[in-house]
This record gives sequence, structure tokens and C-alpha cells, in this order.
Amino acid sequence: MDEVVAGNRVVWEQASTKHVHEYEDLLAEARGDEQLFPRERELLEAVLADAPVVVHLQSGHGLDDVGLVKAGARRVIGVDYSSVAAGAAQRRARDVGLDCRYVVAEVPGVPVKDASADLVYTGKGALIWMRDIDAWARDVVRVARPGGHLFVYEAHPAVPLWTWDTDEPRIRPDRSYFAASHINDTFPGNGAQEWQWTLGQIVTAIAAAGLRLKVLEEYAEPFWRPQDDHRAAAWEGRLPNSYALLAQKPL
Ligand SMILES: C[S@@+](CC[C@H](N)C(=O)[O-])C[C@H]1O[C@@H](n2cnc3c(N)ncnc32)[C@H](O)[C@@H]1O
Repeated sequence: MDEVVAGNRVVWEQASTKHVHEYEDLLAEARGDEQLFPRERELLEAVLADAPVVVHLQSGHGLDDVGLVKAGARRVIGVDYSSVAAGAAQRRARDVGLDCRYVVAEVPGVPVKDASADLVYTGKGALIWMRDIDAWARDVVRVARPGGHLFVYEAHPAVPLWTWDTDEPRIRPDRSYFAASHINDTFPGNGAQEWQWTLGQIVTAIAAAGLRLKVLEEYAEPFWRPQDDHRAAAWEGRLPNSYALLAQKPL
């Protein structure tokens, strides 16, 4: 494993202890009905109607997986390099009685059979941890079956630029949209090296790997807020904060 990736993994093993400490809260969330965003459910409706086998890259706490099975997935295989995150997600899936299985492994290079997924699902803080976006896209294409889909719901690549000021949106003086990387300074990835992929680089990597783009939508709403009660001006509708992407592997 690359040295920087290995360092990031240490940060994630530590950060993922949150999933263990807050196990009961997350279990209650898993028993509720709101693991996926309404727009995700809409964009995935047709795919989920066919009871897909889903491979979730960087599955984290696994709540998305619970939502995917409840929305129609036959099974979810979550892949994450944090054994703490995968262990807590596996226990939770068992507790709620859903078919989600977890593999501890690095992305890309996941130990999942070629062409075994009807849907490769990822996002919500995932792509910033990919050191090589082209290798990631190639691995997605390898894992997806012909006709299978990739779905990404992710923070917009411009997000590292926004300050969390409440009076008006500002751009952080220490950040650039075109920088290659920066050190994360917020929970949960605090201290880890994030890679910055522009929207153009992400879409180009997906197209170059052989997927056909079907949907790319940008949203003002962030997928995550550091505290529920904090209202940054950058999140109030004028700037992009998240996006969704749906692509298909040709038959
Ligand atoms: C912010 S979480 C997002 C995941 C999930 N969607 C969620 O909401 O919990 C990022 C996850 O990516 C995992 N991760 C980061 N880099 C990885 C890599 N190179 N290979 C595998 N997992 C990785 C971390 O362990 C963490 O669980």
C-alpha cells in the first residue's frame, strides 16, 4: 500500500471508532427509513427495481447499504479498508437482519470478482481518498457487469474552497480548485491527505474507463454538515456543494 494511503488508513481506523461508540444511535438510524437521500432513491429507482447485487466501495458506517437493501437491492457487498468500520457495519447489518457483507480491502484493487456487480455504489466522502482516479474508474468498470451501473453521490469538488462563515460565503485563501491535494482539517479525516479531483477529471476518468454517462446533477445542498445546528452561508443555495452521477457499462 502506498505510504500516504497507509497513513490515511490509520486516521480512518481511529475515526471509525465513532461507529462503535455511537453504535446504538446508528442502529436506531438503520431501523428508520431515511438512510438514502430522496434524490438518490429517485435516480436509482429503475436500477433497484431489478433487485441488483450492489458493491459499495468505501462503505464506511454502512447505513447506505441498509437503505439500498430496503429500497430493493438483493445484497450489498461493502468494501472498506477500515476493519473497525467494516466490523461495526457487519454487526449492524446482522442486527437489522439485512443481507450486507463486508470486506476489508483497499480501493482500488478490491477483491471482488470481475463483472459481479449490477450496481457499483459510492460517495459521501469517498473519492477524495482515491490517490489515482483513473485506477479507481478502471476498477469500477472491472467489477460492474456489462449493462451494470455506477452511482456516485458525492461532495462537490469545489467544497474544500468554501469557508463555513455564517454571514456570507467566502473562499479559503489556502485552497485552490486546481490543487492536487490538501490536508484535511475537520473530523472525521482530520490530518489525512485528501486528493482533489475536479468534476472534469472525474467525468473524464469514468468516460475513459468505458462507462456511458447518463446523469450528472449538481446540488446546492451539502450531503454532510459538521454540526446539525451550523448554517454556513456557502450552503444557502448559491454555490455547488454536492453532485450525483449515474453511468452505465455498455452491454
Ligand atoms: C467518509 S466515509 C464515506 C463512506 C460511506 N459512504 C459513509 O457514509 O460512511 C469514507 C470511507 O472510506 C474509507 N476509505 C478511504 N480510503 C479508502 C481506500 N483507499 N480504500 C478503502 N477504503 C477507504 C474510510 O475507511 C471510510 O470508511
